[in-house]
Amino acid sequence: MKPRSFDDGKLIYDKSKSGRTGYTLPALLSGEKEILAAIPAEFRRTNDAKLPEVTEPTAMRHFVNLSVKNHHIDRGFYPLGSCTMKYNPKVNDVAASMAGIKDQHPLSPKSATIGLLKIMWGLSEFLREISGFAGMSLQPVAGAAGEFAGLLIMRRYFQSRGEKRTKIIIPDSAHGTNPATVASLGFTTVQIPSNEKGVISPAAVAAVMDDNVAGLMTTNPNTLGIFETHVKEIAAIVHSKGGLMYMDGANLNANMGIFRPGDVGFDMMHFNLHKTFSTPHGGGGPGAGAIGVTAELEKYLPFPHLEKDSGGNLFMNFERPDSIGRLHSFYGNFGNIVRAYAYILSHGGKGLKRVSENAVLNANYLKVLLKDVYELPYDVHCMHEFVISGKRQKKKGVKTYDISKRLLDFGVHSPTNYFPLIVPEAMMIEPTETESKETLDYFAETMLGIAKEIDESPETVTTAPHTTPVRRLDEVAAVRNLDVAYIE
Ligand SMILES: Cc1ncc(COP(=O)(O)O)c(C=O)c1O
Repeated sequence: MKPRSFDDGKLIYDKSKSGRTGYTLPALLSGEKEILAAIPAEFRRTNDAKLPEVTEPTAMRHFVNLSVKNHHIDRGFYPLGSCTMKYNPKVNDVAASMAGIKDQHPLSPKSATIGLLKIMWGLSEFLREISGFAGMSLQPVAGAAGEFAGLLIMRRYFQSRGEKRTKIIIPDSAHGTNPATVASLGFTTVQIPSNEKGVISPAAVAAVMDDNVAGLMTTNPNTLGIFETHVKEIAAIVHSKGGLMYMDGANLNANMGIFRPGDVGFDMMHFNLHKTFSTPHGGGGPGAGAIGVTAELEKYLPFPHLEKDSGGNLFMNFERPDSIGRLHSFYGNFGNIVRAYAYILSHGGKGLKRVSENAVLNANYLKVLLKDVYELPYDVHCMHEFVISGKRQKKKGVKTYDISKRLLDFGVHSPTNYFPLIVPEAMMIEPTETESKETLDYFAETMLGIAKEIDESPETVTTAPHTTPVRRLDEVAAVRNLDVAYIE
């Protein structure tokens, strides 16, 4: 008999058998009947919803089988640079799923939500301490939304001074959301080059800084994984012409307990709470892009803003005349806020510092294992991630994209490909602190093994993956013509 898989790969609708259920509902209580009767006739269903009729084990097996078809951090290594795909401790989810937290409605009376305000305050205090910024808002729901808030604050700041500045300086190593945010607010990007060491030089900033520049936006470490060593000098140049310094804090995983952006001349930054403080993310969310600002800029933060009254009681302040306004309904992605709070509490200050130290150690270890076979364009001490190039392999007819597809045959997710744009055939690798030496060695052996295959049988790599449930997909069509509706 030929072995076959118990999972037939059918859609759950196609597994449906009339009359099968996975639940038992209690009879309606009299009060509930009256509530249902109060629903106007035009809003009531006239026929049953067409849902799959399956038993609980069928539903469970269906979704568990689906979950292992895709790659995720709970299945294997995920070195996707710039995304900080660290392991997400399950205790965070336990905290976020506690009844008093998950069952709360954002319109619940204050008496029922004081504990939630305390969580928000506690997290804000931790973020102040970690970043060195006095003002904090947890409202933005993604890193990019934090950037949007930051540039709105910049715009409002200059408006209040009667100035209309139009330009923002951004290095060529910037994450794509930075220039996108600049454009979405009607500013113009002034791009400056990174120098031969992969960092911004003060001279490059001085050459373009004038009194029409609202500010400079950069991440530190930058997207090459290199620490921007000249930020103090650069901040002095920008400030001398009245501009502001924005730090994209998405790479905070390298800095905690080591470098505080608020202490070295930055005026504002966003955090990517979902990355640094471990909410499962990717595939579009959920995110939390808390934003921190200097005391001078605090009045511009979005409302409602969490504050303490003269008696020390927490309240949400809606009366903020200078605020940039509301960016999101209610109070941000609350689950992320709870997870970040749980993550910080469970690590403590010293633990967070070790997180960053180990993230940097792991990246440098891996870089050394790979650098003789893959080109390393910036051979300097890296922070939490590094960028190699597949240029040598491309000359042999194999693209970086093929290497990434081949990695899937070894149960490893691809590094970030073709970014940053200044490195041809880029592979941006971020191992994170949660990976063991054995995992890093496994990845290095696999990468070196693929390089050998490229020499000996390149078609094995150019036709990969060979072992995944689906082979190569038309990724553009998959994004543009997404088809998720079930039609009989
Ligand atoms: C450096 C950097 N900046 C900004 C962002 C944007 O964050 P988000 O995807 O949450 O909008 C990312 C995302 O990974 C990033 O890596």
